[in-house]
Amino acid sequence: MVGISTLAFLTALATANAQLGQPIFEEKQFSQQFYDNYNLLKHIGGNGPYSDSEGYGINRDAPASCEVSQVIMLHRHGERYPDPSVAQGMVGSFKKLKASNKTLVGSLAFANSWETFLDNPDIWAEETVSGPYSGLLNGFHRGVVYRSRYGHLWNGENVPIFSSGYERIVETARRFGEGFFGYNYSTNAYVNIIPEVADQGANSLTPTCFTGNDSPTPNLNNLTQFAVAAERLNRENVGLNLTVSDIYNLMLLAPFELNGRPFSPWFNVFTLEEWITFGYYNDLNYFYGTGGGPGANISLPIGSVYANATLSLLNDPNAGKLFFSFCHDTNITPVLVALGLFVPKNDLPLDHVDFHSIYKSGNFVPMGGHLVLERLECNATSQFPKGTYVRTVVNEAVIPRENCQNGPGFSCPLKDYTNIVQNLTVDYVTECQVPPEYPQYLSFFWNYNQSTALNYHKGDIQAQTGLITWDDQPIE
Ligand SMILES: *[C@@H]1O[C@H](CO)[C@@H](O)[C@H](O)[C@H]1NC(C)=O
Ligand SMILES: *[C@@H]1O[C@H](CO)[C@@H](O)[C@H](O)[C@H]1NC(C)=O
Ligand SMILES: *[C@@H]1O[C@H](CO)[C@@H](O)[C@H](O)[C@H]1NC(C)=O
Ligand SMILES: *[C@@H]1O[C@H](CO)[C@@H](O)[C@H](O)[C@H]1NC(C)=O
Ligand SMILES: *[C@@H]1O[C@H](CO)[C@@H](O)[C@H](O)[C@H]1NC(C)=O
Ligand SMILES: *[C@@H]1O[C@H](CO)[C@@H](O)[C@H](O)[C@H]1NC(C)=O
Ligand SMILES: *[C@@H]1O[C@H](CO)[C@@H](O)[C@H](O)[C@H]1NC(C)=O
Ligand SMILES: *[C@@H]1O[C@H](CO)[C@@H](O)[C@H](O)[C@H]1NC(C)=O
Ligand SMILES: *[C@@H]1O[C@H](CO)[C@@H](O)[C@H](O)[C@H]1NC(C)=O
Repeated sequence: MVGISTLAFLTALATANAQLGQPIFEEKQFSQQFYDNYNLLKHIGGNGPYSDSEGYGINRDAPASCEVSQVIMLHRHGERYPDPSVAQGMVGSFKKLKASNKTLVGSLAFANSWETFLDNPDIWAEETVSGPYSGLLNGFHRGVVYRSRYGHLWNGENVPIFSSGYERIVETARRFGEGFFGYNYSTNAYVNIIPEVADQGANSLTPTCFTGNDSPTPNLNNLTQFAVAAERLNRENVGLNLTVSDIYNLMLLAPFELNGRPFSPWFNVFTLEEWITFGYYNDLNYFYGTGGGPGANISLPIGSVYANATLSLLNDPNAGKLFFSFCHDTNITPVLVALGLFVPKNDLPLDHVDFHSIYKSGNFVPMGGHLVLERLECNATSQFPKGTYVRTVVNEAVIPRENCQNGPGFSCPLKDYTNIVQNLTVDYVTECQVPPEYPQYLSFFWNYNQSTALNYHKGDIQAQTGLITWDDQPIE
């Protein structure tokens, strides 16, 4: 402990030195603390608020010798309420807590007075409009930030914005457009809605595979932490009879509550180990099954559609400079596969957390997650020749390619990038057995509707039970 007199002495010394412009106690240039990734936003898979990806410390700004000449973004809708099937499970498990009519004690005591956010089925599946993590706010904010970052690429021409035909996605696209174009949105953006139907074939942001799938279905019972949580809560409140599925549903309340409110008490009900397991289970669901990850054989052909089309954009000097597209999480994950990003050497184990896996869904598909390809025009430096390069940015983290990082800022020469991605991609139409009467390639990037008619919402937001277009009309 520092004695009074010592303290007085040091204070006097510090003052004296400060007067000379040399304070001896200064802020550290670098914090010495790391919180070991202890941010629960990293352990909720794709269910909760946006967070930037963990990265590699590479400057987000274009390298000093380079200028971005084209930006191609694929963006998930923003924060939202759960889809009906998921919401029903959550409501059911919460009802179980109330079923005994006993006052809950212990870690669930707050739930006696907690007010649900799921009492209005009309807003299930919709983007959130409230709270600091609001989905609509996120879309607008990203648009504003990207105007600052990429505004030099807009020269006053009219720019298409592509959205798959799902209401929350269209709303995100519009909000982004308003943020990016500001008061020019109503006249200078063309919102194009691409229906989410299988017969769009390859001309889609949400392509379908017409074959079966080959991947296993992850099982909650195979990860012990869910049973451990059930046991703990059932012991605290005898008679609850919570199952592992109930635990999963109750955990879902936390991230989804946060999508529309500043705070969720549900985070405190579960341990960090349980949250890590929850996040990993979500990774498994993305990796396998219909999650669009490398563990399913349909992912590569599906992702090849966008990967191939964007190769054409990057190599086409006459193409536009701004390509903003909006879709679901499981439409971005196949593209990551086709671009060779976050593809682990081995499949993820189903029965324990693989801490060393690079497949972390919280890093690439949180709500509002986005994958950005930047084309860079770079002047010669002592290290790099003048040329065109490509950089991949995932949720604001620059992700260098393992096999091509010999450009400025660890970017990849466009020529090499093109060869690599051409090599990785496969023929979607053949592999996915697309019927010949459906579109065989993606054409909307070049052939879009030059109308502003869909830039704004028309009509009330209705319950979203099926595929709904901008007008609340079912898609033909
Ligand atoms: C590249 O060089 C040209 C010609 O000197 C210059 O106009 C341009 O600003 C340079 N670009 C960058 C990103 O430094
Ligand atoms: C709990 O209370 C509700 C409403 O008061 C009642 O309908 C229900 O039967 C009670 N359930 C049990 C298990 O006592
Ligand atoms: C953008 O909007 C402002 C204000 O309405 C208008 O003066 C300007 O001409 C617009 N720019 C373009 C390129 O249309
Ligand atoms: C995926 O595997 C299943 C089962 O083997 C097979 O029926 C299907 O054709 C495969 N799909 C693709 C796109 O390879
Ligand atoms: C996962 O759980 C299921 C059902 O409890 C069981 O049949 C299966 O063997 C388990 N798989 C692994 C890999 O532990
Ligand atoms: C819990 O399970 C026990 C034994 O199966 C049963 O007697 C009891 O009614 C159940 N309680 C609730 C609230 O479901
Ligand atoms: C393309 O794939 C072949 C076969 O896997 C490989 O030998 C070649 O090096 C690859 N080329 C590039 C540019 O990655
Ligand atoms: C790749 O894209 C080009 C240009 O859009 C298209 O002509 C071609 O058919 C596509 N190839 C595949 C395999 O989808
Ligand atoms: C473009 O979109 C508008 C508004 O939905 C529609 O009326 C028009 O028919 C479309 N034009 C073409 C060429 O598809």
